[in-house]
Amino acid sequence: EVYNPNGKYRVVSTKPMPGTRWINLLVDQGCRVEICHLKKTILSVEDIIDLIGDKCDGVIGQLTEDWGETLFSALSKAGGKAFSNMAVGYNNVDVEAANKYGIAVGNTPGVLTETTAELAASLSLAAARRIVEADEFMRGGLYEGWLPHLFVGNLLKGQTVGVIGAGRIGSAYARMMVEGFKMNLIYFDLYQSTRLEKFVTAYGQFLKANGEQPVTWKRASSMEEVLREADLISLHPVLDKTTYHLVNKERLAMMKKEAILVNCSRGPVIDEAALVEHLKENPMFRVGLDVFEEEPFMKPGLADTKNAIVVPHIASASKWTREGMATLAALNVLVCIFIPRKLILIRF
Ligand code: DGY
Repeated sequence: EVYNPNGKYRVVSTKPMPGTRWINLLVDQGCRVEICHLKKTILSVEDIIDLIGDKCDGVIGQLTEDWGETLFSALSKAGGKAFSNMAVGYNNVDVEAANKYGIAVGNTPGVLTETTAELAASLSLAAARRIVEADEFMRGGLYEGWLPHLFVGNLLKGQTVGVIGAGRIGSAYARMMVEGFKMNLIYFDLYQSTRLEKFVTAYGQFLKANGEQPVTWKRASSMEEVLREADLISLHPVLDKTTYHLVNKERLAMMKKEAILVNCSRGPVIDEAALVEHLKENPMFRVGLDVFEEEPFMKPGLADTKNAIVVPHIASASKWTREGMATLAALNVLVCIFIPRKLILIRF
């Protein structure tokens, strides 16, 4: 699919993206926009080299693609100046290699903060109240009438939510759980989230002034402290060498037997094989997973566990956000074409 065939700058998108705003933005600035409609979900390095061709000024790509030395070298040979990842996470991009070839890299933070936090909150609630199991039970025709012990789950109010990685998304999630469900907060981050702390303090005071039990917050001095103390834990770190298998067998064992673990960050943050074992051995422990160690696959056994809710990496999948991500991705390309720079990561 091609827009503005005579445009001066050739910009390739490896996938169709939601909305038309991003296309108009590029076309208005004189770009020829080519959208790849290959039927494969995940494009190989060879597929992308073909798309880049002999002349390409910029590429908008996806988190499923491996943007390393080979692709940046091909893009540089084609005269490219920009690679824009339609995602906030860029663990699929070798930024150093891009730098070496003088190609700027962009990502799309900000527009997906609330949408992603809302999915983490949805998984938290669904796990706490066993919604997926109950839905399957109904559809299976198993409901014979109300029973005192039928699908008894956890009340979140007054329990402690633990957040590991209190950046934009982790903080938005923490606010939702504290304000929406009156949970106490414990968080771990290398940086102090003063905005989050101010918010929880003010909200606690508001509850107190209204005669309600105030919520409390604590900044943990270690991740282990969060794992031991929290009833519900949501993971929001970036994936890098230091966070690979952050939640492993030993750390799973530190968590409460009836805890809930939610992951909307990146799959390899959890040792998924260890998690499957832990779920089998601890039927009251529950997880909500949006991401997996080797997407699109799940580790053997995970699909058979009743205490796991699994969804296919949809945390940022609201219409508003996905259109916003596409627009930002296009904007990143334009900035890099028109304001040549020795690269850096563009962060909004
Ligand atoms: C991201 O942006 O990194 C998400 O994983 C997909 O929206």
